[in-house]
Amino acid sequence: MSDVTLRKLVKRYGEVEVIHGVDLDIADGEFVVFVGPSGCGKSTLLRMIAGLEETSSGEIRIGESDVTRADPADRGVAMVFQTYALYPHMSVEENMGFGLKMTGHAKAEVKEKVREASRILKLDDYLKRKPKALSGGQRQRVAIGRAIVRGPEVFLFDEPLSNLDAELRVDMRVEIARLHKEIGATMIYVTHDQVEAMTLADKIVVLRAGHIEQVGAPMDLYRDPDNRFVAGFIGSPAMNFVGGSAAQDGVLAPGLGAQTLQVAAAVPGVGTEVIVGIRPQHLALAPGESHLVDLVERLGGVSYAYLVAATGDRLVVELREDDPAPRPNDRVGLRVDASRVMLFDASTERRLR
Ligand SMILES: Nc1ncnc2c1ncn2[C@@H]1O[C@H](COP(=O)(O)OP(=O)(O)OP(=O)(O)O)[C@@H](O)[C@H]1O
Ligand SMILES: [Mg+2]
Repeated sequence: MSDVTLRKLVKRYGEVEVIHGVDLDIADGEFVVFVGPSGCGKSTLLRMIAGLEETSSGEIRIGESDVTRADPADRGVAMVFQTYALYPHMSVEENMGFGLKMTGHAKAEVKEKVREASRILKLDDYLKRKPKALSGGQRQRVAIGRAIVRGPEVFLFDEPLSNLDAELRVDMRVEIARLHKEIGATMIYVTHDQVEAMTLADKIVVLRAGHIEQVGAPMDLYRDPDNRFVAGFIGSPAMNFVGGSAAQDGVLAPGLGAQTLQVAAAVPGVGTEVIVGIRPQHLALAPGESHLVDLVERLGGVSYAYLVAATGDRLVVELREDDPAPRPNDRVGLRVDASRVMLFDASTERRLR
């Protein structure tokens, strides 16, 4: 079994604490993605699991073993980094087999494992090439191959695709999903790209400033975020947020127009200030003058209209292919699908359900 358990994990650099007591259960074979803004502690947490960073306090278990103080080589993990760091003078084959060779594995065994990895990664035709004769995507596949040949129980990826161009990222994302399906190992994957998180993860862990904000399946986080941070982080373009207040029969949010919104969420006492959240696809343009069009982005199937309200609030509205697109400086009205509005406490930013 290669489930991974983190208990009260803390990381301090001198006086500064950067991971503040993280508890997490990762099941055997699960694909877990750590996501969050720059500096939130994703890499630190991953490197603690790998054994590349010392744990200040708390416990890390992999399967039955407490590996908190174990040597990286004894944890049954293999890590793939953003920079592939291949040996330039070695062929693809030699790069993939090097680690095994160094740890004294027999030549035939190394060859067999490299062959298996290159089959999985479709690198068969490139085995004799040097890294400089490979594309970025191929190089990253070699780096992943280096991890596969070690037969780890847990794969750790730290932003492995961020050096690739947009198109290649999509291809490699699909390949990593396929790889997980084929070898079924536990995988922990760090990214700040919420699209990668949504598409790859069985389970997403949203981190912020060294804390876990929420853990859940991608669509659960999307549909049912616990707080404003998660609501704003998951989903692209991000959810719109405006200030509002509870009224007798719903919620008033001047940034969305003058109408009272009959929301599905629990509305606090009349007059209570709230944060009102609504996703771009739950807004539509309507006849009216309440909002000024700042910019329209046409992506083909969908377009995004960027609006400014009289309150100064900025909003993104998703338009479908056949919707008439407004022009910059047009004045428009807004239709709000009030049943999709989410409310958040104005001070704690917790979701009001
Ligand atoms: N050696 C160090 N000494 C002191 N602080 C550090 C050290 N390494 C990292 N930190 C701090 O720990 C915090 C978490 O860093 P970490 O690299 O884990 O962030 P991250 O979520 O991976 O960010 P990014 O998306 O930019 O890679 C940051 O505030 C960083 O400044
Ligand atoms: Mg990082």
